[in-house]
Amino acid sequence: MIEIRNLNKTFSLKGRSVDAVRGVSLTVQDGDIYGVIGYSGAGKSTLVRCINLLETPDSGLLRIGDSEEITVENGKILTGREKTPIKEKQLNAMRRSIGMIFQHFNLLDRSTVFENVAYPLKYTGLSKKEIRDRVMEMLQLVDLTDKQDAYPSQLSGGQKQRVAIARALANHPKILLSDEATSALDPDATESILGLLRSLNEKLGLTIIAITHEMAVIKSICRHVAVMEDGRVVEEGSVYDVFAHPRQDITRHFVASASALNRVDKLLKEDSPLVRVQPGELLVKLLFSRDSVGDSVISEISREYQVSINIVLASVEVLEGAPLGGMIAVVKGSEEHIAQALQWMEAHYVEVEVLRRG
Ligand SMILES: Nc1ncnc2c1ncn2[C@@H]1O[C@H](COP(=O)(O)OP(=O)(O)OP(=O)(O)O)[C@@H](O)[C@H]1O
Ligand SMILES: [Mg+2]
Repeated sequence: MIEIRNLNKTFSLKGRSVDAVRGVSLTVQDGDIYGVIGYSGAGKSTLVRCINLLETPDSGLLRIGDSEEITVENGKILTGREKTPIKEKQLNAMRRSIGMIFQHFNLLDRSTVFENVAYPLKYTGLSKKEIRDRVMEMLQLVDLTDKQDAYPSQLSGGQKQRVAIARALANHPKILLSDEATSALDPDATESILGLLRSLNEKLGLTIIAITHEMAVIKSICRHVAVMEDGRVVEEGSVYDVFAHPRQDITRHFVASASALNRVDKLLKEDSPLVRVQPGELLVKLLFSRDSVGDSVISEISREYQVSINIVLASVEVLEGAPLGGMIAVVKGSEEHIAQALQWMEAHYVEVEVLRRG
């Protein structure tokens, strides 16, 4: 388990100070894939760099696996309940127990794939043969054994990130921190790297904290998510609950950005014929979640209340095995029937928003 309590980090730059991380508390269970999403400057990278102490927080508490708890007070890293200053050796051991990958891969350009993966194994006391075996084990894990003698410049972006993942896991860490690992990749390579992370999580029980500004990454691999804004975690929970019932504006923005239903705003602005309504008709947005299933709702209300539903846009996806999504539709029928149908839907956990009245 990773536990972060009340973590703070302020940078001072030319007399100005920036509160990059403010009072962040998070718990990540072993074997979870935990996403942190936020816009640029929200403090995501600073937060993950504080977790492996690449960056020294100003204050806070960290518990990582079975290691001694770490308390930071006034920028001093202390370990154990007695709060003894951390030793260089402990710090190095801790950093080795957490792998990290980056947006721009951070490979050594003048070293081969083999040498890049072997790099973190230096000074670990492993023999030459053990290092060779470990590197080959890692390259097999990321499916790159045939590239061991290639240089980074001879690889595609996706292959470079595979090398970086092999290097990050060379010391068999239980935790992998991923800072925008797919942000520089095309959609196919992104899909393949996300697939690899998912399979490493399942095969090795690897706990992954994935920082991103892309909803697609969160939806694709994460089980839990924290939304960061201005140095703070403003919302947190299971991916399904956070995205099905966003409470903060910023979370709503992320949800909308990933939803095809968002296109209705453009159609409304253009006054497209698709969203025009006749007197008595309604243009509505219907949102479904775990407890309401789209197609049965539509057939139920058209049968029960003699209203007809013309679908303009629809988008339902499956998150954590449950449907999430909705549709934009024109509802036609008598005033009374439409009112009854809307009531029925709300009683059956369909969120209804009226966008236009004819
Ligand atoms: N070394 C530093 N010195 C001064 N300010 C910094 C430093 N590192 C980060 N900051 C500032 O801290 C804030 C948070 O930065 P951070 O890099 O953590 O954000 P981020 O969420 O990772 O953004 P992005 O999505 O652009 O990577 C920003 O205002 C940034 O300018
Ligand atoms: Mg960043």
